[in-house]
Amino acid sequence: MHAKKVIRRRADLENFTIQLLEIYKFLIPSAEEEMKRRKFFSQLDGVVNKKWPGAKLFLYGSCANAFGVRNSDIDVCLNVEDKQMSKAELVMRMAEILEADNMQNVQALTHARVPIVKFTDSVTGISCDICVNNMLAVVNTKLLRDYAKIDVRLRQLAFIVKHWAKCRQVNETYRGTLSSYAYVLMCIHFLQQRDPPILPCLQEMQPTYRVKVGKIECAYYDQVESISHFGSQNKDSLGELVTSFFEYWAFQHNYNHVVISVRTGGTFSKDEKDWTRRIGNERHLICIEDPFEISHDLGRVVDKHSIRVLRDEFYRAANIMRHDCNPAVTLFEPY
Ligand code: GTP
Ligand code: MG
Repeated sequence: MHAKKVIRRRADLENFTIQLLEIYKFLIPSAEEEMKRRKFFSQLDGVVNKKWPGAKLFLYGSCANAFGVRNSDIDVCLNVEDKQMSKAELVMRMAEILEADNMQNVQALTHARVPIVKFTDSVTGISCDICVNNMLAVVNTKLLRDYAKIDVRLRQLAFIVKHWAKCRQVNETYRGTLSSYAYVLMCIHFLQQRDPPILPCLQEMQPTYRVKVGKIECAYYDQVESISHFGSQNKDSLGELVTSFFEYWAFQHNYNHVVISVRTGGTFSKDEKDWTRRIGNERHLICIEDPFEISHDLGRVVDKHSIRVLRDEFYRAANIMRHDCNPAVTLFEPY
């Protein structure tokens, strides 16, 4: 009887994995879309190089970190060494260049916490946000992309988790839930914890890449082609990983005492950071350390209400994995 149940479960899991892989494949941007984006960026780069000597553009976020689903917006960072101009002024100047280049809906959001210029490319219809001098985002984009090259299961897991979070409306930082960036870090952390591990901790290895951004030294092992076998001892399927990911965040993670840290490849106590109490608006109810800006908790946006929403969604997902006969559908039902 027991053996029969286990066999049925294994078959269910295999079926679940097949369905998840279908969803993953559907979410991947097409080669045509990738090409369109590359062309758009190189044209934009050409315009800026010509009209603004000394300015340099970098792609960051989901269009460059391997975790972008189809039809995502493009995030660009403008890097300028000009100490005289404020971020708002730099954004204004960028907006003028874009308008002169006939871009559509150019909006300079100079008063936002992070000033940006938003616009739509008149040829391709691609939407783009440009921020200024945010090189940490460019560097953490590279870190995520390098992790994604080590084992394809990271990209698969993160696509499924991001898709789930969007369907369930828990990917909205302005409402106190988590950013896509935070979810990807949660996935990396989770795969570092598997036994045997599926991902290494690149920041604990001998650095082959080093840059300094302001006062922050960013260093890690980036020769990831040489460790592409790293996770091969671990045979977990995508279905098992998705199931365990939600079990982990529903039942195993210690929200009261623990910080997750991709930088160290593990967890440590909130005491070490003094993240045990509310300071200003930062409550530290779920603690996710930024890999480079280590005083930065990506869970800072989560408040008393949204932590409940978030944890209830993790319970819901874990319970679906345990009891539902069609989890690949129920999991993503719109909220
Ligand atoms: P989607 O647009 O939802 O597909 O995902 P995304 O990968 O673009 O993520 P998100 O919009 O959350 O963030 C864009 C990029 O900004 C991330 O890849 C990071 O590089 C950076 N970023 C986002 N939030 C933070 C943050 O709180 N701190 C730092 N240092 N970087 C951040
Ligand atoms: Mg984005």
